[in-house]
Amino acid sequence: MKTLNVNLGSRSYPIYIGQNLLGLAELIKASSQQVLIVTNETIAPLYLEKTLRAFKDYNKVASVILPDGEQYKNLTVLNQIFDQLLTDKFNRQVTLVALGGGVVGDMTGFAAACYQRGVAFIQIATTLLAQVDSSVGGKTGVNHSLGKNMIGAFHQPQCVIIDTDTLDTLDNRQLSAGLAEIIKYGLINDLEFFEWLENNVSDLLARDSQALSFAIARSCQNKAQIVAEDERESGRRALLNLGHTFGHAIETGMGYGKCLHGEGVAIGICLATEFSAQLGWLADDDVSRIKRLIKKMALPTTIPEALTVEQILQLMQVDKKVHDGKIRLILLKNIGQAIITDQYDSQLLKNTLQKNYA
Ligand code: NAD
Ligand code: GLY
Repeated sequence: MKTLNVNLGSRSYPIYIGQNLLGLAELIKASSQQVLIVTNETIAPLYLEKTLRAFKDYNKVASVILPDGEQYKNLTVLNQIFDQLLTDKFNRQVTLVALGGGVVGDMTGFAAACYQRGVAFIQIATTLLAQVDSSVGGKTGVNHSLGKNMIGAFHQPQCVIIDTDTLDTLDNRQLSAGLAEIIKYGLINDLEFFEWLENNVSDLLARDSQALSFAIARSCQNKAQIVAEDERESGRRALLNLGHTFGHAIETGMGYGKCLHGEGVAIGICLATEFSAQLGWLADDDVSRIKRLIKKMALPTTIPEALTVEQILQLMQVDKKVHDGKIRLILLKNIGQAIITDQYDSQLLKNTLQKNYA
């Protein structure tokens, strides 16, 4: 097992990465003897029983099983967690345990941030995307019909548990969605990792355990470092949103759940890449290189036909990086070097979108 640390002073926590970690009581840093496990109807039959073993000596253990899907990541379904907590009379000592992908993790973390003004929680991440991104860093929340992740809170977990064996049951489309966020780290901060990814596509797609473990750990290292520098996104952390302003607009526009988050990010990265080239920053060869890697990872690179440029631009206005009415974008100066800027010509952005349909 590999252990990384997210260094945030009194809110620091470990990330455990390894095989066969579910059910290991010694990893769990629950601050009390009361636990509510939050999962969903797909993950529960696969991993709930095994996870429960870690809590067999606890005084009080319950679980709540949510419907599965991005379309259920909302305030109405979030209430199911509060209903369970209150029905079972859990007090402020409860620890919530998120067992699932990014949807379960974001919702559980947000419920933990709100319940009785804040209780502890643990992330047990079961998708590649959650293992490399959403379980680390303390962003929690739900979607609104008008905008993705628009309601939420920063709330750090007590620990993150990444059992890579859980990836055995994940389908290929979801695996690729996680690879999109992995590519993101190479692009914003880590040229060497980007090159490693280019050389290891087939091993990653074949689920070679060494390749996957390396990619997960390197991604978590990148994320932990950025989060430690800028926990609440007053600056550098925004770089982790490369491709996300475009991607969130596409996800929202298509209807939550139709375009996966990782797929939206992949298209968004391609758009950010093309726009960076239009601005004269990125060489055409680098654009081809980035798109080639995204395609090889079985991810989409172009805007879905169902959405117009106008719709996308409208939806991009509902973004947490909008300041004084201007959309700030994460763009690339080079592979391995991202910046945040609102200094661009809006007409050029529109032209870039128009050129990026299949
Ligand atoms: P997800 O949570 O919807 O999981 C994808 C699918 O895989 C679901 O159907 C789920 O039930 C299933 N699944 C999960 N684990 C499985 C397993 N081991 N075997 C088989 N099936 C499994 O999607 P996701 O891609 O994990 O997360 C996307 C969400 O994460 C989005 O809502 C996005 O906004 C959020 N996100 C948050 C952050 C953050 O920093 N908080 C970062 C990135 C993404
Ligand atoms: N996924 C973006 C962030 O955690 O900041």
